[in-house]
Amino acid sequence: MTILSQNLTITVAPNASTHRIDRRVYGQFAEHLGRCVYEGLWVGPDSEIPNKNGLRKDSIAALRQIKVPVVRWPGGCFADEYHWLKGVGPERQPMVNNHWGGVIEPNVFGTHEYFELLNQLDAEAYINGNLGSGTVQEMTDWIEYMTLESTSPMAELRKSHGRVQPWKIEFFGVGNENWGCGGNMPPEHYASLYRQYQTYVRNYGDNHIQKIACGPNADDYNWTDVVMSSAGKYMDMLSLHYYTIPTGDFSAKGLALDFDEQEWHDTLAQTRRMEELISRHSAIMDIHDPRKRVGLAVDEWGTWYDVEPGTNPGFLFQQNTIRDALVAAINLNIFHRHADRVRMANIAQMVNVLQAMLLTDGPALIKTPTYHVFDLYSDHQDADYVPTVGDLGEQGDCTVSHKDDAYTISLVNAGLDHEIGAAVQLPGQISEVLRAQGITGATHTSHNTFDAPDAVAPADLDGLRVDGRHLRVTLPPRSVATVRVSLVG
Ligand code: AHR
Repeated sequence: MTILSQNLTITVAPNASTHRIDRRVYGQFAEHLGRCVYEGLWVGPDSEIPNKNGLRKDSIAALRQIKVPVVRWPGGCFADEYHWLKGVGPERQPMVNNHWGGVIEPNVFGTHEYFELLNQLDAEAYINGNLGSGTVQEMTDWIEYMTLESTSPMAELRKSHGRVQPWKIEFFGVGNENWGCGGNMPPEHYASLYRQYQTYVRNYGDNHIQKIACGPNADDYNWTDVVMSSAGKYMDMLSLHYYTIPTGDFSAKGLALDFDEQEWHDTLAQTRRMEELISRHSAIMDIHDPRKRVGLAVDEWGTWYDVEPGTNPGFLFQQNTIRDALVAAINLNIFHRHADRVRMANIAQMVNVLQAMLLTDGPALIKTPTYHVFDLYSDHQDADYVPTVGDLGEQGDCTVSHKDDAYTISLVNAGLDHEIGAAVQLPGQISEVLRAQGITGATHTSHNTFDAPDAVAPADLDGLRVDGRHLRVTLPPRSVATVRVSLVG
């Protein structure tokens, strides 16, 4: 395959697939933070907002369309203060949400409601346990409550709350950011605690839990080295958290809507750091785990701006522009390239928080530009990654995968001024164009609002040309496009 653009060529040999893109790199994250769980997903069965068993129907319908594979819950920093027993049964016990605005957390959305969310989304469970302030007993009881069928006290408690059958848990995180909000631990201390706590994360019946250890903050390579060396053999995945902050300065991050062209470029430069972080953490993991048994789960990523003026600073609500769409596409492309090690990623967060898929206002809901990238990229889920040689220039990027006898080609133009004319040469004659769509913004701050919900929305690609083995696409500035084709024979 060859992609030609402005004298640039990308070539790939046919059948050159090297690894599969795990659908779980399209994972989501829903924390008890601001209006993500409450309002964004859960409105309660008595709400006037149309809902099924308390979950708003519009959010579920939109999220089903992007095929959410897995949802991480209940945090985040919230996870290490969460005591699950307060969120089950008829008498819920409220608590203070210390990390996020100091508001009262009613614990109305708990374990049962989370599994109802997964059921409606047809997604897998990734529960993050409390190692920071919870006990080993509490963690092991929770696992027993959720997954043990027999007549133990915890299984009986679950049944008394109306759920006879155990649930399945695919992934369980043992603590979150334990280098920070999860206990301020040095890596040696966390590694010891991880070894202890994970012992009691048991498999009951045919349930098999993949255990995820708390990994590094961005470029803390020592954390990875120490935790892998001491506890690598007890884990299935190690997490990595890296947020795109335009200024790189957490105390003055930059705004979601009010930014200039320089900040556009700075943001994308910050986001491209993900490639180096994954490469260097993977290289350390390779020393301890050369066969790549342990996956890397980038279970928090995305843009983090200063909160939207006039909103609760503890709620992390931010708008989402075509810049966020480019951030999403560039990160997904990086995850594809490293999918031999990166087996999960969870963008932060699903609704109304940070780089969200959806924003709600009472009964109204809009899809963000980021949502549309997840939609445009959905055919890459569980596809074989197809390497390419060459590139589309400094501002261009591309990713190719193969699944169900078709190639999916996604192309990015992160520049603000110039079109990119890309010619993609496939390994055979093109038989049919199955999808050809893209998004762009009229300006670098284009975004959707409740008054103009489709200002940034996918449209059929203009001027797509098919010529034997070649696909010719013109990418406007600030755009993401996906073309899916089948070949003859
Ligand atoms: O996603 C918001 C917060 O960012 C999470 O709670 C925490 O893990 C991270 O610092």
